[in-house]
Amino acid sequence: MKAIVYTQYGSPDVLQLQEVEKPVPKEDQVLVKVHAASLNAGDLENLRGEWPARFSGPFRPMHKIPGTDVAGMVEAVGENVKQFQPGDEVWGDLSFPYGFGSFAEYVSVSEKALALKPASMTFEQATTYPHSAVVTLQALTRPPLGSGSDFKISFESGNKVLINGAGGGMGTFGVQLAKHFGAEVTGVDRRDKFNLLRSLGADHVIDYTQEDYTKTGQRYDLILDVVAHRSVFAYQRALNLEGIFIIVGGSLGLFIQVATLGTLISRTGSKKIGINSWEANKKDDLDLLTELFEAGKVVPVIDRRYPLSEAAEAFHYLAGGHAQGKVVITMEHD
Ligand SMILES: NC(=O)c1ccc[n+]([C@@H]2O[C@H](COP(=O)([O-])OP(=O)(O)OC[C@H]3O[C@@H](n4cnc5c(N)ncnc54)[C@H](OP(=O)(O)O)[C@@H]3O)[C@@H](O)[C@H]2O)c1
Repeated sequence: MKAIVYTQYGSPDVLQLQEVEKPVPKEDQVLVKVHAASLNAGDLENLRGEWPARFSGPFRPMHKIPGTDVAGMVEAVGENVKQFQPGDEVWGDLSFPYGFGSFAEYVSVSEKALALKPASMTFEQATTYPHSAVVTLQALTRPPLGSGSDFKISFESGNKVLINGAGGGMGTFGVQLAKHFGAEVTGVDRRDKFNLLRSLGADHVIDYTQEDYTKTGQRYDLILDVVAHRSVFAYQRALNLEGIFIIVGGSLGLFIQVATLGTLISRTGSKKIGINSWEANKKDDLDLLTELFEAGKVVPVIDRRYPLSEAAEAFHYLAGGHAQGKVVITMEHD
């Protein structure tokens, strides 16, 4: 089968389209014929060998075939697989601990990483959900780690929510979800994404290249930051009295700062600052996202599609900035 392979960290140029052996499912695994896979900033970070990737592969990538999200059809199942049978259409998030690998014609993966794909979605639409949308939904609804588990995030109509990185893979889901929950939403991203953000429901937009959202004087009830790079004190300043700041993406240093200083601030004051809590492939979340998709309330934004053979170009496009929503890889099966 054809697969995208990388054996060293680097730019998208280290990715190679190779002919590799088609995997054989182990007893608890499902062999999925991949129809579509989507790119995440996390895939790019793994490719570059940024800090999360170095935990599993300090010197070279642990998993040679990248790809987090998958949508495809079950081709075969191991003898202990209970939930699926050949012909089922499935979707899933193959990130840790499931081994990645969706940028290939086939992937063999634990059944725990998969769920039945809604018939209402195309494979391309479905592959945008399992990682980006689930992480975003959970970040918006679960108390962040380190902030004390004695409270719940509850949306009241008119709550002010800010999403930093609103025009990307997670942010485009975040804006729609926050609107659906009744919030007044501010989306922060580049100016060229403003039309998209407004069309998704953003009430206010801020151009991050011109303005620092922590210095505008506005205060928010909930801030979700997927590209955080300021100090926790800046985020603390931008929160209302009972406000919550959640870091989803950012530097290792900032994650450490949030885990230490943020926890201290959360335990000693009314503002909460923490790291998003996340559980992959949670059925309730996939079900809610399906319901919202079918009602037309939260829909995927697909910017570009690339065939598997052009996966390196797809990574280059994402790396170059300016992508709006998701970039999808499609398979060309014979
Ligand atoms: N903690 C977790 O569980 C978890 C799970 C999933 C993902 N993540 C992390 O979340 C991050 C984002 O993921 P994603 O897939 O949404 O990324 P993405 O698709 O690349 O979106 C990021 C968006 O932020 C914009 N942006 C870049 N710099 C910015 C800045 N300084 N201020 C405001 N906006 C800025 C980008 O626009 P331009 O590129 O056009 O500038 C882009 O629209 C990644 O770091 C990923 O590792 C964390």
